[in-house]
Amino acid sequence: MRVFVLAGSSRSGSMNRRLASLVGGLVTRSGPTVDLARLADFPMPAYDGDTEAGEGPPPAAVALRDRIEAAQALVIASPEYNASVPGVVKNAIDWVSRFRPQPFKDKQTLLVSASPSMVGGNRGLWALRVPLEHLGARVYPDMFSLAGAHHAFTEDGELTDPQLAERLTQTVDSFLDLAEADTRYLCLQRR
Ligand code: FNR
Repeated sequence: MRVFVLAGSSRSGSMNRRLASLVGGLVTRSGPTVDLARLADFPMPAYDGDTEAGEGPPPAAVALRDRIEAAQALVIASPEYNASVPGVVKNAIDWVSRFRPQPFKDKQTLLVSASPSMVGGNRGLWALRVPLEHLGARVYPDMFSLAGAHHAFTEDGELTDPQLAERLTQTVDSFLDLAEADTRYLCLQRR
């Protein structure tokens, strides 16, 4: 199984990038292949119907679609902006949603977030669920939000709190179990 892990923030010190890397490591340890990326790898303009009708989707949207399609499961590590999903993350979802077949349909998806605040970006994940579920993604019911993220990592990128580290590992492992079972089921259905 291949898992695409996307960090919704691209800045050098991004906590969500760190969390995405950590999750990527946990996924690799469990067996699947990981494709790790950040949103800045896919620079795209704000969605505009005239651009789409004229030039078609931007190359970055095509590239992001291809990476999502090449994976059986998706992990998004997204910041919370103003109690919601960052505009750049939503914009990328909007562009990708325009392709047919629709790339998010049936995609097993795990949402994680990191924030210096006490809520850990969890409200942003609830907002992120809405467009993804609307598009038919199979968004894993449990989500992982890392509060106080500016103090939560060791220099090696691990979590300092062993209980939190255990909870993240369990969340990722449970998600992968479901994603693998679902991938097998979908393969059987398509035969
Ligand atoms: C934030 N931040 C923030 N944090 C939070 O927990 N809840 C919020 O509603 C917001 N709102 C918000 C709006 C905007 C415009 C910015 C720029 C930031 C803080 C945010 O969590 C913090 O900047 C994180 O460091 C962003 O994630 P990365 O870049 O570290 O991955």
